[in-house]
Amino acid sequence: MIYGKDVRLRAIEREDIPRFVRWFNDPEVRRFLSMYEPMSRAQEERWFESYLSRKDDLILAIEVREGDSWVHVGNIGLHRIDWKNRVATLGIVIGDKGYWDKGYGTEAVRTMLRHAFFELGLNRVELETYSFNPRAQRCYERVGFRREGVRRQALYRDGKFHDVITMGILRVEFEEGGGG
Ligand SMILES: CC(C)(COP(=O)(O)OP(=O)(O)OC[C@H]1O[C@@H](n2cnc3c(N)ncnc32)[C@H](O)[C@@H]1OP(=O)(O)O)[C@@H](O)C(=O)NCCC(=O)NCCS
Repeated sequence: MIYGKDVRLRAIEREDIPRFVRWFNDPEVRRFLSMYEPMSRAQEERWFESYLSRKDDLILAIEVREGDSWVHVGNIGLHRIDWKNRVATLGIVIGDKGYWDKGYGTEAVRTMLRHAFFELGLNRVELETYSFNPRAQRCYERVGFRREGVRRQALYRDGKFHDVITMGILRVEFEEGGGG
């Protein structure tokens, strides 16, 4: 377990798969993610098996405290971890919409960055987000991510082209921002 404030991150388990399928099949959640087709339980199970043997991906379950128990509300991951250059790509989804806008995403990202920089020894974490997702941009900016560029009209979604915003944070910036 990796503990943040009212948030903890734990390893994902096979038993979590039905929840992933529910979240990723919710159009209101999926529209912010790179996946765009309905997902079956069998596909998700196959993905999970392949994940277990990969060394360049770390995906953790986000749990939030509710009274005396913890509730699994989403996942956060470091993808394409490049151990030589010490760079990884961050992804996050709070799949249960009732938990949006309560500060959990910001705290989960902060907790994951602490792990990335101070346990895994990474130096840079980067990500992409869509122009129509100001909630995600605000969440990343609050943790210290900087906007680095715009991939103009790189996404086709709902019949239109949209800009993709690239963001990044260095370990030194995270430390200076008080994240450590
Ligand atoms: C993006 C996501 C991880 C953010 O987590 P969260 O817990 O909902 O966000 P937080 O409450 O920590 O922070 C959201 C911030 O955005 C702000 N916000 C929300 N809607 C906004 C909007 N339309 N415009 C501008 N800011 C907005 C909130 O006020 C909050 O900022 P504040 O704390 O300064 O008030 C979560 O909403 C999610 O998983 N969404 C669906 C999937 C997704 O978008 N993943 C990211 C793909 S790049």
